[in-house]
Amino acid sequence: MQTEEKRIIIRKYQKEELDNNYQQLIDVAYQAAENAYAPYSSLRVGASVLLQSGIIESASNQENVAYPAGMCAERVILNYVTAKYKDGVVKALAVVSPDTDKIVSPCGACRQVMAEIIKRKGEDFEVIIVDPDTVYIINAGDLLPFAFDF
Ligand code: THU
Repeated sequence: MQTEEKRIIIRKYQKEELDNNYQQLIDVAYQAAENAYAPYSSLRVGASVLLQSGIIESASNQENVAYPAGMCAERVILNYVTAKYKDGVVKALAVVSPDTDKIVSPCGACRQVMAEIIKRKGEDFEVIIVDPDTVYIINAGDLLPFAFDF
């Protein structure tokens, strides 16, 4: 038997240590969370994307009484930017919630959508996960190891 090890690097920062554009991206994500529609979970989530061109877009989670029809903030914004900016390349995605002190780390379905964007654009990007005290930055490509592809 042989084994292979896959490690991921989680970079930890204080918000003030980040470049201005990342601090702004986080602020925009918090603003976006105000537009969340989360009557079923009461967890409002905001997500924002910085494109390599410098454009920032944001969105929030949108729930549905038929629960699986709802959508996470990350997938709303990622699908939006790829739909709107055909040639846009994602540089960073920030995810926040004003409703919990825990980190809101992207779910499996959102990681799959990130994997597709990396595959499609040929470029990895940074995922910025925020709790009130610490900012975690992880390469999106590290979030779904051994992913399905064909
Ligand atoms: N949610 C997100 O929007 N992003 C995440 O990373 C985790 C969960 C949403 C989905 C649902 O509307 C609510 O949070 C509770 O799961």
